[in-house]
Amino acid sequence: MEDVQRYDYAGTGLEGEVPSAPWELVDAWVSEARAAARTREDLYEPSAMAVATVDAEGVPNVRTVLLRFLDARGPGYVSSRHSAKAAEIGATGVMAATLTWSPLFRAIRFRGRAQEIEPQIVQAYWDNRPWGSKISAWASQQSHPVASRGELEAAAERFAQQYPEEGRESAVPAPPDWVGYRIRCTEVEFWAGRPDRLHDRIRYRAAEPALLDDARAWERVRLQP
Ligand SMILES: Cc1cc2nc3c(=O)[nH]c(=O)nc-3n(C[C@H](O)[C@H](O)[C@H](O)COP(=O)(O)O)c2cc1C
Repeated sequence: MEDVQRYDYAGTGLEGEVPSAPWELVDAWVSEARAAARTREDLYEPSAMAVATVDAEGVPNVRTVLLRFLDARGPGYVSSRHSAKAAEIGATGVMAATLTWSPLFRAIRFRGRAQEIEPQIVQAYWDNRPWGSKISAWASQQSHPVASRGELEAAAERFAQQYPEEGRESAVPAPPDWVGYRIRCTEVEFWAGRPDRLHDRIRYRAAEPALLDDARAWERVRLQP
């Protein structure tokens, strides 16, 4: 790896007072990343979040989803009950996630217990999805094999006819496998990249899954980079 490209992380880091619960920083960093993505070309899809689960044999699994829910109860996303991650969450109940914004020299890690998001919240998000995304959700048995691309497109076409874009039928219901998960966190870590790899890390831990803004629940510690 001699031709490896090296970037210096010129972040301002996490100095001075950090809050006694993680919520303030989670909220600020996500908001700042989303604001930055509107103007910076080097920051694309700031809501992309790596989500890790563990299968029944204890083997980790990780994939990218979109952060679609965020409040003091924890970060959340939508997915399908057909998916591998749903099976793994069902078997183990645990989940971890990372939001990484390399151009901002920032990342947040979350660990904790998986919780299904309340149906009315997930339904409200569904209602605002574009029609095409709704049709694709009906057509896909997520994480299951399909014989060909053609078969997948034919399924989408069938549902497009069942729930046409125009007209009275345009209200596409959410498919029965539509689901949202959030992480009820026991651990949240902020990483801020700094020059010469002497980065800042602040980790919050709670004995039980806790609200991110509950100052009594969290122990805060600075970790070596
Ligand atoms: C940028 C990006 C965003 C994605 N967003 C989602 C999402 O919000 N929900 C989802 O279920 N899959 C999403 N996916 C697809 C997942 O990465 C993954 O392929 C899928 O969820 C199946 O994973 P599983 O078989 O481990 O359950 C996204 C992929 C990428 C690259």
